[in-house]
Amino acid sequence: MKELFSIDTHDYNPDGPVFRRPSARAIIERDGKVLVMHSRKFDYYKFPGGGIEQGETPEEALVREVREESGYTVKPETIEEYGSVLRRNRDGKDPEGIFEQQNFYYFCEIGDERVPIVQEEYEIEEGFEPVWVEFLTSLVRINRTAIRRGGGDAALIEREMRVFDMADEVVRRRRFEREEAEAIRALGDVTQEDGGVPRTAGDISLTNGGVPLAAGDVSLTNGGVPLAAGDVPLTNGGVPLAAGDVPLTNGEVPQASSDVAQSSCKVDYAAMIEYVRSVLEPVQTEGEGGVGVHKLEFGYSRFEHTKRVLGWSKRLYDRTENKTGLRYEDLMIATIFHDVGRAESASTGLMSHAAAGVPITREYLRSHGFPEERTEYICGLVGAHSDKWRMTEPDIDRNLLMLMEADYLDDMGALGIVMDTLIVRARNEKATFYDCFNHFCRYTLPMQYESPMVTPEGKFFWDEKTEIVKKFVEHIRRDISV
Ligand SMILES: [Fe+2]
Ligand SMILES: [Fe+2]
Repeated sequence: MKELFSIDTHDYNPDGPVFRRPSARAIIERDGKVLVMHSRKFDYYKFPGGGIEQGETPEEALVREVREESGYTVKPETIEEYGSVLRRNRDGKDPEGIFEQQNFYYFCEIGDERVPIVQEEYEIEEGFEPVWVEFLTSLVRINRTAIRRGGGDAALIEREMRVFDMADEVVRRRRFEREEAEAIRALGDVTQEDGGVPRTAGDISLTNGGVPLAAGDVSLTNGGVPLAAGDVPLTNGGVPLAAGDVPLTNGEVPQASSDVAQSSCKVDYAAMIEYVRSVLEPVQTEGEGGVGVHKLEFGYSRFEHTKRVLGWSKRLYDRTENKTGLRYEDLMIATIFHDVGRAESASTGLMSHAAAGVPITREYLRSHGFPEERTEYICGLVGAHSDKWRMTEPDIDRNLLMLMEADYLDDMGALGIVMDTLIVRARNEKATFYDCFNHFCRYTLPMQYESPMVTPEGKFFWDEKTEIVKKFVEHIRRDISV
């Protein structure tokens, strides 16, 4: 186990006999709160746990001590090492001796059942009670005060204080990761409520109000310079394709087929997310996002964006009552892959990232046994997701619209505030509160007020974000003024 730190008071005779009493301590978090023991007598906190007895493993001692002190039952399979703290000080019972305690800290979870608390004499005397606290950092202050005031075992109170401080962030990160893993797992729990009418890839990619775009529009920009028709990499015998054709580079327009089974193959979302991570994480993609906003100045991650958009696709889908025409699985898959082309478009600069994502998505789905028609449908969503002007078309595919709305919902609201602040600091480390506020008012705020949402569900979430932003602006304006 890695050592977190050690405490050595050097107040003992180094040649004295050493009395060793290792202990096991539990860091238990549930619903955002951490279980700790409070001493009513001396008003300080410590993690539940205690001495490891002869013949006991640290894990066994952990389970026993937590049960005795708090009444909760640790699930042994959830026990995970955190770190150890070595403590050496003069033995309280033998002034000539050295007290050496190796403290092993573990993360673990508890079951719901509770048994009566069994306390040792000193625990009753100190008035120990189990409590759930929200902020470990607030305990740091309380323990520090207890040390100054005196009373209780100062070395123990200090040790726990330092572990509270160190574990605080780890507890939060573990919770976030656990909840995220749970959310990814839950993606597969939704029962498909397909309207029963399979849409074809052609429905998505080949309608642009009937007006094919010029070739130069296809690749959007290449360092700000629209490409000449001849430069477009996707040519069809030298004839530039219309923008809508871009995602369908297999030379054929997929035909509608009536037997598309949504669940004809197992969808492994976690594996898809990992794949997209492997493509996007190593790449520094070009920055863009609003006028003058360069997200990558602060290390904006396209992969993290993808995960967040996935959350929005799921929320939009869940909130939508009439699911006719919605294809849950395909929407989720398209969302996972929607920006996978960022890597390639960044390195070649030749293609729009949406178009670049199509062959990558197609390759993945084909090699994972997805039927052709379904593969092309999902590729159609990926290839068209940047064509946001189509959102107001009355006959736009509902899955495409949902993906576009989800894509827009990210980077706005509370996240927009933080994003603009990060950008300002990345540009100028002397930036002030006012600079951050000003940047937010220039960039994300106007975008927040120009809602691109079309569906009632999209509008609902957008309005929520606008509300919080409105409040924020009101408050920060006041907060930073005299
Ligand atoms: Fe995109
Ligand atoms: Fe995106």
